[in-house]
Amino acid sequence: MDTIRKGVLNMTYQIAVLKGDGIGPEITESAVAVMQKAVPQDVTLCCTDYLIGGIAIDRTGEPLPQETVNGCLRSDAVLLGAVGGPKWDGCEKHPEQALLGIRAALGLYANLRPAQLWSPLRGASPLRTELTEQGFDLLIVRELTGGIYFGDRGYRSGKFGEEAFDTEAYSVTEIERIGRVAFEAAMQRNRRLTSVDKANVLETSRLWRKTMHRLAEEYPDVAYNDLYVDNAAMQLVRDPRQFDVIVTSNMFGDILSDEASQLTGSIGMLPSASLGEGTRGMFEPIHGSAPDIAGTGKANPIAAILSAAMLLRYSLGLSGAADRIERAVGQVLEAGYRTADLAGSSDAPTLSCAEMTDRILIALE
Ligand code: IPM
Ligand code: MG
Repeated sequence: MDTIRKGVLNMTYQIAVLKGDGIGPEITESAVAVMQKAVPQDVTLCCTDYLIGGIAIDRTGEPLPQETVNGCLRSDAVLLGAVGGPKWDGCEKHPEQALLGIRAALGLYANLRPAQLWSPLRGASPLRTELTEQGFDLLIVRELTGGIYFGDRGYRSGKFGEEAFDTEAYSVTEIERIGRVAFEAAMQRNRRLTSVDKANVLETSRLWRKTMHRLAEEYPDVAYNDLYVDNAAMQLVRDPRQFDVIVTSNMFGDILSDEASQLTGSIGMLPSASLGEGTRGMFEPIHGSAPDIAGTGKANPIAAILSAAMLLRYSLGLSGAADRIERAVGQVLEAGYRTADLAGSSDAPTLSCAEMTDRILIALE
């Protein structure tokens, strides 16, 4: 009885909003407005801002203040903009440390990065027409709290004098849990999974591959294959339709997801979800803070808006509202509206970040 009442009436969710730097604030505000409009009337989203990145360094001396971590831990979901910029390049503390810090603090080991070609944007893709005609829709599952991003690093004296080093480590446990996320995702999609590694060179990749093969036996309905990362990078541009779900390590996933984003026409289109054990996740566009266009209105808010849709779907279980947002984005693109990054060589007038947001809000009505 109690759960029914809670599920249907007057549900309030706490959302931590981390706008960050550069275009972060503008795109995040767009995403919050769209999210607020899309949820059913009896759902209240209580959004609270917290500092992260360069702005947090400026105001508190820390890229990831403890108050931000606590605020995120108290919330049902986290919506993030972007961090970093040339202003903090020389600083001892990097804004990017905050991103790794919050991923680790919230235990968000699974990063889902869907890349699909929206049919109205076929012309914006750098791929040949015969490839874009049939479209593609793939999901990169990137391990997010391990590997070389989190291994030992530092300086030491080497053969040629002072040298820097970074190390990669992966445990069976870490590989297994990201592998399970990927196999489960494949079961929900087209039941194909490609694991990407560099097992011809790296020991961590050999353990990765061995562990994935063991998991594959548990999922006989999923067609599984392995690719070396160099080949995977090439196959992605040769024919992205061959992929359904790709699972890979932290660094390879970082690189391949930028590559995949460009095939969709613009990195300004790609959302992501970072998930851990519970339902609390963090949702952010895969693009950066684009300091060169911050404040000019040129930013594309769609990746942030689609990230908000993922937040509603994965952390709050509001898949109807998420579907409505994705449909609204599709309609606006179908109607021909474009931000500057999507316009290509056409000289049709382009929309600002705020105008694109308004179009999507109208489509939600
Ligand atoms: C990403 C970004 C980050 C990463 C940077 C900003 C630390 O490139 O989310 O893809 O490498 O994870
Ligand atoms: Mg990246």
